[in-house]
Amino acid sequence: MKNKVTKAIFPVAGLGTRFLPATKSIPKEILTLVDRPLIQYAIDEARAAGIKEFIFVTSRGKSALEDYFDDAPELETALRKKNKDELLQELKSTNMESGAIAYVRQNKPLGLGHAVWCARRLVHNEPFAVILTDDVIAAEKPCLQQMMEAYDETGGNIVAAMEVPREKTSSYGVLDCESEDGATVKVKGMVEKPAPEDAPSNLAVIGRYILTPKIMQNLNKLKSGAGGEIQLTDAIAQEISDGNPVYGYRFRGQRYDCGTKAGFLQATVAFGLQRPDLKDEFSDYLTDLMSMRQAAE
Ligand code: UTP
Repeated sequence: MKNKVTKAIFPVAGLGTRFLPATKSIPKEILTLVDRPLIQYAIDEARAAGIKEFIFVTSRGKSALEDYFDDAPELETALRKKNKDELLQELKSTNMESGAIAYVRQNKPLGLGHAVWCARRLVHNEPFAVILTDDVIAAEKPCLQQMMEAYDETGGNIVAAMEVPREKTSSYGVLDCESEDGATVKVKGMVEKPAPEDAPSNLAVIGRYILTPKIMQNLNKLKSGAGGEIQLTDAIAQEISDGNPVYGYRFRGQRYDCGTKAGFLQATVAFGLQRPDLKDEFSDYLTDLMSMRQAAE
């Protein structure tokens, strides 16, 4: 019987340098796609997948993130007085139950693997999910939920995977798989940020993972991998060398890399066009903008 996965780690301790100067005082995870911060999309996805305990790995300057999940009694009273019921419901849906969130601190940004390792005492001996809030995935069935269903069949470690253009492999962890087809593929190797000519495939790892507690032990033993940081990829690759199962899961959905400016803008446009209250006005605006640009060329 496989253990149910009820804990998720959200590593949010990175410096977010690609969004400077905004991230000088605002955590990247609070940047908003339309009217919801990135972190809200990640939390909603985790909840849909049955996660009950939310573990944030934070760092200095991230207090706005902690406040975001608290009740906001003054705002609630103000909305109630003005009979703004819909907004009130919207607001309340962001509150987290007392005790559902735990915060652990990463004192130095030593990499994603190190951030995950910081949560080891809260994870104990249970399987856990990891969600990177930078990767926003629009999908009919939320990505982590798809992965949980695959995990119910396979157990072991599962990483979300997506085909990327070969020239982009150096931005990702890349999988070496036993077969090419199927949604769930057994992985026989994993390389962090390979040059295109060294990449074993173009199947890249995206920021959703379901991992066994053994990963924490592997992280414990790791010194520095690529780029002087402690890489989560190395801890997962260790599982493969130890003969333990690791799977890549080709999710159904559209992923936006909101860790980059271009990805963030694309997501803003796509999510804006999805919103019933905005789509008509917004799409008219985009159409006009494009014709003006074409006319000017
Ligand atoms: P990134 O590689 O995107 O780094 O981290 P970053 O610091 O967030 O952003 P840039 O590159 O400076 O713009 C991927 C994820 O891992 C977390 C980040 O918060 C992000 O969710 N992370 C990274 C940590 O929690 N700690 C680290 O030491 C490094």
